[in-house]
Amino acid sequence: MASISPSLLSADFSALGQECRTVMDAGARMLHFDVMDGHFVPNLTVGVPVLQSLHKALPDAFFDVHLMVSRPLDYIQAFAGAGAGIITFHLESESPADEAIEAIHAAGCGAGLAIRPGTPAKALLPFLGRLELALVMSVEPGFGGQAFQPAALEKLRFLYAEAQKAGHSGLWLEVDGGVDERTAPACRAAGANLLVAGTAIFCAPNPAAAVRRLGAL
Ligand code: DX5
Ligand code: ZN
Repeated sequence: MASISPSLLSADFSALGQECRTVMDAGARMLHFDVMDGHFVPNLTVGVPVLQSLHKALPDAFFDVHLMVSRPLDYIQAFAGAGAGIITFHLESESPADEAIEAIHAAGCGAGLAIRPGTPAKALLPFLGRLELALVMSVEPGFGGQAFQPAALEKLRFLYAEAQKAGHSGLWLEVDGGVDERTAPACRAAGANLLVAGTAIFCAPNPAAAVRRLGAL
């Protein structure tokens, strides 16, 4: 069974609370909240006040916050205060990873570290033992609806093996980008235990059924 973290980026923003409720009731383990600053990636999305409102409306939701911003360290406290459960930032960002991981833990959240398609998986190794989540991007971050890049599979296999070797069985190994019913089985086989899906869920005729089908893989 895969755990599913639906990416709210593809949801109907005029009915965000209801969209969250629908996928949670269908068994989504987390809600993936994509934050973009128009600098680290060429797109803008939502920020702290939106998370705050969702957290208030859905106190039982666990938010998996994905920061695609140049200076994550500057925003960790604010997102933690707004209800984040896990905060994931990019290794390619300007914030020193050690410091950011420490700040996330000090703020009471789980820490996640993400890599873009061009970054080798081994770059995560020095941090793995201190992380609750490792995120392998299977598209260039910035936009939903892109095609899955199969090179992510080798990275997942590598990180899965390294986590096992280190006895870090509680690590969330997350994959994000182009995940759907066609690409998810290979991600699962490669060791991913947390699948992000935006288009495949919220653009499906029946998002709840899409969550259930992905979760059954
Ligand atoms: C992309 C975001 C993803 C995105 C995934 O930069 O990090 O979470 O919403 O969307 P799909 O599932 O449509 O590829
Ligand atoms: Zn994401």
